[in-house]
Parts: sequence; structure tokens; C-alpha cells
Amino acid sequence: MSDIIKIKEEYLNKLSEVSDLKQINQIKSELFGKSGKISNEFKKIGSLNSEERKGISSQLNATKSELQNFIEKKIKDIEINEINSKLKNEKVDVTLPERSFSRGKIHPVSQVIDEISSIFSEIGFSVEEGPDVENEYNNFTALNTPENHPARDMHDTFYLDKNKEILLRTHTSPVQVRTMLQGKPPFKIIAPGRTYRSDSDQTHAPMFHQVEGLHIDKNINMSHLKGCLNYFIKEFFEVDKIRMRFRPSHFPFTEPSAEVDIGYELKDGKIIIGEGDKWLEILGCGMVHPNVLRNVKVDPSKFQGYAFGIGIDRLAMLKYGINDLRAFFETDYRWLSHFGFDPLDVPSSYRGLSR
Ligand code: DAH
Repeated sequence: MSDIIKIKEEYLNKLSEVSDLKQINQIKSELFGKSGKISNEFKKIGSLNSEERKGISSQLNATKSELQNFIEKKIKDIEINEINSKLKNEKVDVTLPERSFSRGKIHPVSQVIDEISSIFSEIGFSVEEGPDVENEYNNFTALNTPENHPARDMHDTFYLDKNKEILLRTHTSPVQVRTMLQGKPPFKIIAPGRTYRSDSDQTHAPMFHQVEGLHIDKNINMSHLKGCLNYFIKEFFEVDKIRMRFRPSHFPFTEPSAEVDIGYELKDGKIIIGEGDKWLEILGCGMVHPNVLRNVKVDPSKFQGYAFGIGIDRLAMLKYGINDLRAFFETDYRWLSHFGFDPLDVPSSYRGLSR
């Protein structure tokens, strides 16, 4: 019997007995590796005369492919066996109780920003954003607050460089500047976002949130401002009637300027908006100062309008009965699971499942 036939029979026998891939790989290298048995037979062909060479090489090629086919079939069989035995042993027990999971909650500030954005978008405002790190020009100078203006002291600014040119924005008003510099009037935007001042107590945090409003067009006056705020407050607090008063105030970027109070009363320790004879300050506003418009290349003889700035955290505290502002930013998961909002807003009867 020729060597080739011997090798073939020996290995077909071996292969029919193997049962795992490791053994198959071993056989593969014994046959086809660098000094494997079949590889060696191929090497021998070089020393044969041309007559012999023809016959042997075709025999060798046929043997090689027969062995390879057998190996492939074997590999498939082994893989199928593995899958079948897995299917047999790993049964899914559908009677097991579900694993517990907890769903994240939406922070009250994010919730209130969403509410505010949707209320203003109903009356044609679009939502703009600006960076937390601002330059001094956008935060103060362009807003008619030149150096040495007393309003700068009121802001307890966090400066980020020695020259006091870069800072954490102290209010959302610089978004007015950015928006007007980038576009052409009319403008009708709100800009919610984070703001920073060096201040911390029960009602002040060094980081807090404001929403800026700006409406500039050809015939905008204070009655539009009043109507807009009246609508917003009613929608936000979900009441039909509110009492609202404008108190004269001063901001460098508005003339005239006002602070707005809303009427409320205390019932069993709870604040009821829209009733009673007490007043609560909730925002600053006014008609945009002509100097601001000039600074952003808007002609104040053609365009005018109003602006306002509202403290978002304050609104969230009032609406959802939260009395310490600092808790907003302590990232206490227990606090969030109590005051936060369910992202899917499923009925409360289902909520127990997720805890
Ligand atoms: N930027 C002011 C502040 O943080 C709030 C404010 C007042 C914004 C009047 C305005 C405005 O746009 O017109 O105290």
C-alpha cells in the first residue's frame, strides 16, 4: 500500500473517532502543518520523474481534498452537537419572578425647563442656548453694563482669568446678545440654562437656572410684555386667574425696568398662587435699552421690544412645594426619586413595579 493511502486510512479512522474541536485542530496540523504528513508527501514530488509526478500529484490532491472535506463535515457535526446539548440543558424557566429594575427620574429643574419651553413655544418663541463660560463683553458690556457700573458688583461674578475677561455667566442675558449678533430682527426667543454667582444659602446656590426671554419687532411695547407674562404664569401654575404687579426697578439693559410680583396666599403651610394678598417676586423685565440694541447692530429707531429673566429654580420650588434650593444640586438619589418625574409618566398604580 502506498504511503499516501496509508496516511489517508489512518487519518480517516482517527477523524471518525474525535469528538472535539481541539483534537481536530491537532489532526489538521499533523496533516497539513509545515512538516505535516501530507505536506511532506507534496515535498517528495520534486524528486520524482515527470511520469510518476503526474500520477502521484493527482492522487495526492484527491487525498488532500478528501481529508479536508471530512474534517469540515466533522467540525459542523461537532458544532451542531454543542448547540443541541446547550438547548437541552439551558431551559428558560418562564415561571421565575422578574428581576427588579429601577427607572431613572427626571430632575424637577429639567422638568420645569421642558414645561417653560413648551408654554412659550405655543406663542411663537423659539429656544436658544448659550455657553456657561462667557466673555465679559457679552455678559456685561454689550448689555449696557460698563466697567465700574454698580450692577457688576451685585452679580458676585466667578472670573476664570486674571484679566477678568472670561467668566461663568451670571445670568442668561448674554444669550440676547449672541442671538441678536447672529441674526436679523425680528427676534422672539427664550433661553433657559445654568447661571453662576458666588452665593449660597437656603434660597441661593452658586449654580442656578434662569430663563431669558426676548421679543424684538417693529411695534412691541410694554403691554405685549404684560400679556406674555400673564399668559405664561397662568399656564405654568395651571390657574385661570392670577394677580400680577409691575414694580419699577433698575437693570442696565432695560429702560423702563420692572420687577414682577404675583399674588399668593398660604393655606396650611402651602403656597396657593393667584389668591390672597401676599406678593412674591418672580422675575425682572423691561423694554430693551436702545444702547443694547445699538451694541448688537439693531437700529433702535426701527426695532424695539421687551426682555425678561426668570429664576427657574424658584419656579420649580413654588410649583412642586420644595423648600430648600440646595437639595436640587446635592445629587441625592433618594431626593430625586421623591421629587423627580417619571420619564414615561405611567399611572402611579404601575410605579410600584419599578421601585
Ligand atoms: N439678568 C437679570 C438678572 O439676572 C434678570 C433680567 C432682568 C433679565 C430684566 C432681563 C431683563 O432680560 O429684561 O438679575
